[in-house]
Amino acid sequence: MIRVEKATKSYQSGKVKVRALNDVSLEVKKGEMAVLSGPSGSGKSTMLNVIGCLTRITGGRLWLADQEVSHFPDHFLAAIRREKIGFIFQQFNLLSGYSTWENVSLPLLPMGISEKERRIRAMKLLEELNLETRADFMANELSGGEQQRAAIARALINDPEIILADEPLSNIDTGHVRMVIDILRELKKKGKTIIVSSHDTQPSMASLVDRTVYFASGEISLQEELGEEL
Ligand SMILES: Nc1ncnc2c1ncn2[C@@H]1O[C@H](COP(=O)(O)OP(=O)(O)OP(=O)(O)O)[C@@H](O)[C@H]1O
Ligand SMILES: [Mg+2]
Repeated sequence: MIRVEKATKSYQSGKVKVRALNDVSLEVKKGEMAVLSGPSGSGKSTMLNVIGCLTRITGGRLWLADQEVSHFPDHFLAAIRREKIGFIFQQFNLLSGYSTWENVSLPLLPMGISEKERRIRAMKLLEELNLETRADFMANELSGGEQQRAAIARALINDPEIILADEPLSNIDTGHVRMVIDILRELKKKGKTIIVSSHDTQPSMASLVDRTVYFASGEISLQEELGEEL
């Protein structure tokens, strides 16, 4: 279970203090899929970055898998991130000097897995995402939608318990949306916990969503429990 209690996140940008999250509480149970919805700048990415241990809250508490991690030291947070979380970044964050398959297999590097095995595992995911023909392209040679799908593959290669996806469909053409939704459905069937941000409603995802959390100006304005059983 993921639990956020009265979380606050402030950024200091020069003289301006931005309160990106203001007293936000939410809970996502194991195996659930939640959507963070709301306009641009409302705090969705900040919330995902906090849950993904990429940044620390400035107030409040965070639990991941029934463990309070808010006060964990950095190296502990890094280990949690590596072992339990798959993160799909809004800006993809692929390394341009590396090929697609190398990018996808990067999370396996610290585990001492051989190159041969890493490539086999990367190719399997690339095939699922219809990207196998781009495996040896450099990341900067991919289209936006291809980069997005490569970023999804990279987030899944560790078989993480928690999948955090920041606008995962934003660059995906309609033909591939189905594919990504099917992958999310499979992950849910496996009991993974999934949190997705989206600035618009995604009708194609509706049947998978258990909970929608609406953000407005760094606060949660509404939480809806939806969803049908699979
Ligand atoms: N590193 C940062 N430094 C300063 N301010 C930041 C930083 N990151 C985010 N913010 C501010 O926090 C607020 C929330 O940003 P966030 O990225 O969480 O919004 P969002 O809901 O994901 O928006 P979008 O739909 O455009 O992706 C914004 O006003 C933004 O300018
Ligand atoms: Mg965002």
